[in-house]
Amino acid sequence: MLENRPDNQFVRISRSPEETRTLASRLATLLTPGDLLCLYGELGAGKTTFIQGLASGLGVSDPVTSPSFTLIHEHKGDVPLYHLDLYRLEPDDLAEAGIEAALRSDAVVAVEWAERLPRALRSGALGIEIAFADEAVDARLLSFRSSGGRSDTILRGLAEELGAGSRA
Ligand SMILES: Nc1ncnc2c1ncn2[C@@H]1O[C@H](COP(=O)(O)OP(=O)(O)OP(=O)(O)O)[C@@H](O)[C@H]1O
Ligand SMILES: [Mg+2]
Repeated sequence: MLENRPDNQFVRISRSPEETRTLASRLATLLTPGDLLCLYGELGAGKTTFIQGLASGLGVSDPVTSPSFTLIHEHKGDVPLYHLDLYRLEPDDLAEAGIEAALRSDAVVAVEWAERLPRALRSGALGIEIAFADEAVDARLLSFRSSGGRSDTILRGLAEELGAGSRA
């Protein structure tokens, strides 16, 4: 598991899909080519919705869509974005799926179902866990966690951008 020190985690509530997209587009302004975002959360939690906001913040104009049998979607933008959805990944597919090439590329890489990526490939990634929150149907708890390297810098920037400690 990722470490859970108070200084490596930042938590926010989102109360609508639009709020999740806005949050993600603000995160996008802090990213540079090569950054890796690992998204976790149940079916329908909002991982694709988050990546839609990320894409708009990166200047991607083509749509970010969800269910498909394609593991990797490449989007051109001011900064290119690889959107990986590993829900259907079989362990044997990893090598041929082009995932490692995506991770070595000069793109921002956002991965849904990132728990299916071998741990070694997730080092230095920013983890984003999206959970259903009890208070309303559209409420989600977003937890951002850093794991060293670039992710520490991104998390610090995010806390500054959104206001450290603020949950609203
Ligand atoms: N606060 C919120 N943040 C994000 N999505 C929300 C929120 N409230 C409601 N939703 C809705 O929840 C759904 C999230 O779907 P989405 O496809 O983003 O989930 P997902 O985590 O990618 O699921 P999957 O594992 O199937 O890929 C959308 O219909 C979205 O409109
Ligand atoms: Mg999805």
